[in-house]
Amino acid sequence: MASQIPDVISLAQGIPSFDTPEVVKKAAIKALNKGLVAKYSLTYGLPELRETIEEKLAEEGMYYDFENEIVVTVGSIEAITASLVTIIDGKKNEIVLFSPSYASYAEAVKVAGGKPVFVNLDEKNGWSVDFGSLEKKITANTAGILFANPNNPTGTVMGKETLLRIAELAEKKKFYIITDEVYKDFLYGEYEGKSLFSLAQVPELRKRVIRVFSLSKAYAMTGWRIGFVHSDEEVIKEIVKVHDALVTCAPVISQYAAMAALDFADKDIERFREEYARRRDITMAHLDELSEFFSYEKPNGAYFVFPKLLPKRDSWQFAHDLLEKAGVAVVPGVAFGPNGESHIRISFGRTEKDIDRAFERIKTYFRKGSV
Ligand SMILES: Cc1ncc(COP(=O)(O)O)c(C=O)c1O
Repeated sequence: MASQIPDVISLAQGIPSFDTPEVVKKAAIKALNKGLVAKYSLTYGLPELRETIEEKLAEEGMYYDFENEIVVTVGSIEAITASLVTIIDGKKNEIVLFSPSYASYAEAVKVAGGKPVFVNLDEKNGWSVDFGSLEKKITANTAGILFANPNNPTGTVMGKETLLRIAELAEKKKFYIITDEVYKDFLYGEYEGKSLFSLAQVPELRKRVIRVFSLSKAYAMTGWRIGFVHSDEEVIKEIVKVHDALVTCAPVISQYAAMAALDFADKDIERFREEYARRRDITMAHLDELSEFFSYEKPNGAYFVFPKLLPKRDSWQFAHDLLEKAGVAVVPGVAFGPNGESHIRISFGRTEKDIDRAFERIKTYFRKGSV
């Protein structure tokens, strides 16, 4: 709908405003000109790329063998879907999702033949996990839990203690954990300067934890479609069968681009992070000026904030009205699960100019009493 309206400012799209780093583009052109990209790669991905991934993971305390424990995928969403198809098995078909969480999760679970089971996050406590609610939703049919850390749309981060409690539960009740860490490089506030703890760092959990990552967000490469999944060999040998059936292999030109990104573009990640940190501050300052209409939990990760509408109201209708009357696109919270109702998602992955202009319009909208 937003694309039909002229001069709309979008704070809806969850994509980086930046272009892919030059060093990555040059590597892709070089591979193309050398005639390296015409043919399929191995199903697991180019060995050189997987070796690079193995080294990067080891730098972060995760030890996975490139030969049989890492698969290069078509973005993280293919890694997630292939993992879900793998772990959903007959009656063991329930996948626990936090609400709110990334809108495509529930769809991927259904495509994989599973049933999404929502567990509400506790907004009053910074969108934290309520273990009482979580435990109630675990049954004999639970195949796994899937979450993003940092989370989309709330921008909140789960710390080590919470993650280890989830792992304890998974061990006890025998279900898989799919941890989606596509926003791990964008941390702010109390997490600024720290590296994200991952359950994939715990050797005892390696048969239970499936970790996915993507170059989409970290390196501003959403269009290149490269991600990867890693876990114990036993799990990966099943995931790779699904990956093979779905896509054969990830696009080879993009695999060369990914190699250059991992080798040479980490300074670009830092450039993006600093810029998002600034935009986060600007966004929060705007929201503070609108405290009569929105309350919010400070995001410590990703590039999203998930303000609550005051007073409570239908998020779809509000987003629709804001689009029509103010020409600003945001995502209605209900898209992120039942607990997202009466919220909107704002992306500060957009440019500073867009953020400022959009908030000027939102302020005018409220001033006019359009509520
Ligand atoms: C939490 C999360 N996971 C996965 C994805 C999918 O990204 P990609 O398939 O480009 O890696 C997104 C995209 O917005 C996301 O927000």
